[in-house]
Amino acid sequence: MLSPQQILQGLKRVKYPGLGRDIVSFGFVRDVEVSSYGVKVVLSPTTRDGRIVEQLREAVANTVKELTGVDRVEVIITPPAPAQHRASAAPASIAGVAHTVAVASGKGGVGKSTVAVHLAYALATQGHRVGLLDADIYGPSIPLMVGTHGSPAVSAERRIIPLEVQGVKTISLGFLIEPGTPVIWRGPMITKVLTQFFHDVAWGDLDVLVLDLPPGTGDAQLTIAQQLALSGGVIVTTPQAMALEDVRRGVAMFRELKAPVLGVIENMSYYICRTCGQRSEPFGHGGGQRMAEELNIPFLGSLPLAAELMQAGESGAPLVLSAPDHPVTQAFQQLARTVWTSLQARKEIAATRIY
Ligand SMILES: Nc1ncnc2c1ncn2[C@@H]1O[C@H](COP(=O)(O)OP(=O)(O)OP(=O)(O)O)[C@@H](O)[C@H]1O
Ligand SMILES: [Mg+2]
Repeated sequence: MLSPQQILQGLKRVKYPGLGRDIVSFGFVRDVEVSSYGVKVVLSPTTRDGRIVEQLREAVANTVKELTGVDRVEVIITPPAPAQHRASAAPASIAGVAHTVAVASGKGGVGKSTVAVHLAYALATQGHRVGLLDADIYGPSIPLMVGTHGSPAVSAERRIIPLEVQGVKTISLGFLIEPGTPVIWRGPMITKVLTQFFHDVAWGDLDVLVLDLPPGTGDAQLTIAQQLALSGGVIVTTPQAMALEDVRRGVAMFRELKAPVLGVIENMSYYICRTCGQRSEPFGHGGGQRMAEELNIPFLGSLPLAAELMQAGESGAPLVLSAPDHPVTQAFQQLARTVWTSLQARKEIAATRIY
């Protein structure tokens, strides 16, 4: 007699009516039991269409009979497990996602999205399985930056399939609305969309999910605080007056989110002359480093003001992919290594902690 596991394998022959995919990989087979009375299969399809349910019941029964030679095959149909009421649940991780890292800043326009995109691609080129979640619902800039405006498909389990852009699984509200549509939703809608992005997107197994946050502290941050156990946060700043206050706010925000600050990155901190190659630092030298020391958080490095980076953002061709040898790419690769090491170190600390 075949084992339940072997029968489950055999049930991969049963395709969902009208679709090329089998019912096992959809997760519709809840249980297989083998006893002296026969074989019992518990199916839990998401559809309410009675005809499809009957087709599935018949196909499963016939397949089990063929596989095992057993005549007594019982197929039980149960409704799918009800979706949990997530808003009131405690912050949790996303199933299958090992680390979630949010890129944030106190002020707008400092380069969060640029850093989030390039960090994601740098991690991906280092062999990690990476996702990118645009948590900036009012001003989603990821579609432009990764050069895609496609619309994600929805699976039979009603999960949103993220767009895979050059190896990085990406989701943004920009993929789901017409380009240029102003988003004038109020807080609860933002929460609803983000909740879907966390739990109803088929992320699969990821090593890191990078979140691009909107500036400051608003509904997106509140939703994360209520729902998502972040692995860490990266703060982006620029070397201008008041930047210290700005970063202090970022640190306070991550404290609210109960997420460790992986460090601060100083963007647009110097300029390299394209003709003479000379480095100029109009805002002085070492400000980011000093600030990090003062706030007792790691300094993750500085990025130059680079026209190529701006063009990369506008043309949808991240520099990490289009110019692998560019010094800015190397800076992002270093940032990705530091972030990854820091995530691993924190995982080990958490694993050895005795409660
Ligand atoms: N180091 C850099 N050199 C040149 N241009 C840059 C650099 N970093 C970011 N930019 C450009 O500055 C603009 C703002 O960057 P970005 O959109 O990444 O900021 P943001 O913090 O995400 O903004 P927002 O708060 O609106 O979400 C973009 O046009 C981007 O291409
Ligand atoms: Mg942004």
